[in-house]
Amino acid sequence: MKEIERAAEIIAGSKCVIALTGAGISVESGIPAFRGSQGLWTKYDPMEYAHISSFMRDPEKVWRMLAELYEIVLSAKPNPAHYALKELEDLGKCTAVITQNVDALHQRAGSRKVIEFHGTGETLTCLDCGRSYKVDDVDLKKIPPRCTCGGVLKPDIVFFGEPIPPDALRESFELARRADVLLVVGTSAQVYPAASIPEEAKASGAKIIEVNLEPTPLTNTITDVFCQGKAGEVLPKIVERVRGLLKT
Ligand code: OAD
Repeated sequence: MKEIERAAEIIAGSKCVIALTGAGISVESGIPAFRGSQGLWTKYDPMEYAHISSFMRDPEKVWRMLAELYEIVLSAKPNPAHYALKELEDLGKCTAVITQNVDALHQRAGSRKVIEFHGTGETLTCLDCGRSYKVDDVDLKKIPPRCTCGGVLKPDIVFFGEPIPPDALRESFELARRADVLLVVGTSAQVYPAASIPEEAKASGAKIIEVNLEPTPLTNTITDVFCQGKAGEVLPKIVERVRGLLKT
């Protein structure tokens, strides 16, 4: 595919490559995306299940969905797309991964610089006393899981209606402005403010390389190179080619 060659040439010739990833990169690890025909939001209404006011009103109902999701996420493993971004970092061609995912699969693949834009599912916080728990120390069969003080535990993921963690927000936009290349992988680019990271990078002069199964609102507007296909197939090919170009 000539897009893969073009993407690899751009990456090999750049100093600061930043990746922005979404749910699509973890689909090949068995975790469903949110939108699209197989998406989680076709089964659950996001306003009823992913808004912070819904969680506060009926934590038990929201926890039934979260428990189902945790079961999938906790047994999932990184796929070739996660490993490809780790390899790109090893080649000095991925300064950071900004991810909207809360599955920690980039870290498990070995990526060292990962910014979790929508928080993490790895830890939970008591809504009453603020005590923090690792997910492995929580019995997810008891719904809703509770703190020793009796308060309900909430995963440290960003619900709709909640702010983006301030450090992640600041650092992501700083990186977007510094980037020569933004590699956008498996995101529908519909949820803001994450979706404005590519716009910010483009406005600051970065090239936008997009890897997705389907076109997104970015594809015909700001994307420079669109590599259509599965992230787990396309990214390893791009990285292999970058490796080849760096040797020559
Ligand atoms: P979406 O589910 O909106 O989009 C997933 C994208 O991945 C789509 O554009 C698919 O075409 C693409 N895709 C699916 N499988 C793929 C594959 N194997 N390889 C490449 N691309 C693939 O997920 P996000 O954009 O991450 O937020 O969603 C953004 C936010 O909306 C999430 O972080 C979450 C959600 O509500 C919160 O919960 C706050």
